Amino acid sequence: MSCNCNSGKKEQQSRRSFLSKLIYSIMGIVTVILAIPFITAMLEPFLRQKKPVWRRVAEANDFKIGETKKVTFKNSTLYKWSSDISKTAAYVRRDNDNEFIAFSVNCSHLGCPVRWEDKPQLFCCPCHGGAFYRDGSRAAGPPNRGLYKYPIRIKNGSVELETQAIPITNITV
Ligand code: FES
Repeated sequence: MSCNCNSGKKEQQSRRSFLSKLIYSIMGIVTVILAIPFITAMLEPFLRQKKPVWRRVAEANDFKIGETKKVTFKNSTLYKWSSDISKTAAYVRRDNDNEFIAFSVNCSHLGCPVRWEDKPQLFCCPCHGGAFYRDGSRAAGPPNRGLYKYPIRIKNGSVELETQAIPITNITV
């Protein structure tokens, strides 16, 4: 009488080997799927658009000479999914017929939004009492430098700012 033990063992081994390969393949696929968000997050700073972008923020004729106004615009670093969160602001002043100046709305201390006060002609920060003169230089409080100034130009009657990441000096990254 012949015994089928060997062929049964072989069948069992090949089934086991098939199942282990299947399990390892599934684990490999799951690992790759789980790794995609981490890899994307790590590569994101390199893939993000870093080039400065000129943005139209107002019409030049909207400004009286000497007037300082807040304008809003989209950041230079836009994500496809970003909408209103990509908006930022700046203060623009018309110094004379052809000269405009633009200040970041973010305090150079820790980035709180400053507000323009017409009477004392100061930019005031509500967070820690920082203050800046009308030319953006530091007047008082913890900031150790003036407000960041945006490059600005007039093109076809429109005021345009060159948007870019704002350096905040008191934060070391
Ligand atoms: S963030 Fe403006 S003074 Fe601190």
